[in-house]
Amino acid sequence: MTPRTTARSTLTALALACIATLGHAQQGKLKVGLMLPFSGTYAALGTAIENGFKLHVEEQGGKLGGREIEYIKVDDESDPAKATDNVNKLIKRDNVDVIVGTVHSGVAMAMAKAAKESGTVLIVPNAGADAVTGPMCAQNIFRSSFSNWQPAYAMGEVAAKQGKKTAMTLTWKYAAGDESVAGFKEGFEKGGGKVLKQLTVPFPNVEFQALLTEIAAAKPDAVYSFFAGGGAVKFVKDYAAAGLNKNIPLYGPGFLTDGTLEAQGESAQGMLTTLHYADGLNTPRDNKFRADYDKMFKMQPDVYAVQGYDAAQMLAIGLNATKGDITKKADFAAAIEKAKIDSPRGAFTMGKSHNPVQDIYLRKVEGKENKVVNVAVKGLADPARGCKM
Ligand code: BEZ
Repeated sequence: MTPRTTARSTLTALALACIATLGHAQQGKLKVGLMLPFSGTYAALGTAIENGFKLHVEEQGGKLGGREIEYIKVDDESDPAKATDNVNKLIKRDNVDVIVGTVHSGVAMAMAKAAKESGTVLIVPNAGADAVTGPMCAQNIFRSSFSNWQPAYAMGEVAAKQGKKTAMTLTWKYAAGDESVAGFKEGFEKGGGKVLKQLTVPFPNVEFQALLTEIAAAKPDAVYSFFAGGGAVKFVKDYAAAGLNKNIPLYGPGFLTDGTLEAQGESAQGMLTTLHYADGLNTPRDNKFRADYDKMFKMQPDVYAVQGYDAAQMLAIGLNATKGDITKKADFAAAIEKAKIDSPRGAFTMGKSHNPVQDIYLRKVEGKENKVVNVAVKGLADPARGCKM
């Protein structure tokens, strides 16, 4: 080798090293778009999800997959009419690397459409819209929470096993309420029960009086309801104030009493609900999560905080596998698909449509806690109807 060719190969090696370093530096901060409700009936849910997400990032020293995190927040107001504009601002104007959101199923469906079209990674930390991990499922869309079908189906099975023969349902009229009722009806009627009538109020309306009067007159064996956040507080209080809780048990997915017991007080005592999280799990994993959350935010976590925390865990798993390069979509997805996610709720895996396969707990309200009674359905997977992936 002549001195000239030696110099040339040294220069080439240097240039390659520079390009590699530059590539790493160019990754820069990871832009996370947090699209959540920070106002309205679901405001507290949005805050709990953000808190949970940030707790996990803090535990990782402020970095995921070696990249610092920059947050860009949008208040989606739980308004489906504004959802497409809001999500497109994050994707096209802010150029986010990943979107974490949201709570409301109608908003989440608009987000899933935009994520599917743009290829931006979306992690849904609450909204249960069956379609998101059904017909809209995609390699870049994940959920850290539940499908509307999951806790509802479990509650239907529980109600039938308790010997209830007839039920009426009362929910908000939008995807979450409709799908929750469909899941309950499937589980309940399979066990020999019959849903007599499905009542609804528009979201986020909280005028229940006329419908409670109708339920009192019909005297079903049980009532099943989907409400959450501020609406759940009002509904559970109104149900008790009408005296219905004395004779007609009120069942629901755990959103009816999660993060709401302080405000519901006496009216919620003894209620049975089903959910993928509960108080009193008393596992080392959950105890540590609760203590850390309490230390950081000076309050106890709820299911929404857990889902936010697990959204960050899932993002970390994907980023660690791709050395922080979220554009490596197939490797990013494969890592999450084969992971066992070490959640405070209990470890879970991803189903083929990217929805958690998880235990659904039966819980009973005691004081300010949704105390675990037992596992109502073990390892429940969403049927993922219509998902082709
Ligand atoms: C939903 O819209 O999917 C939803 C909202 C609040 C709690 C649970 C589900």
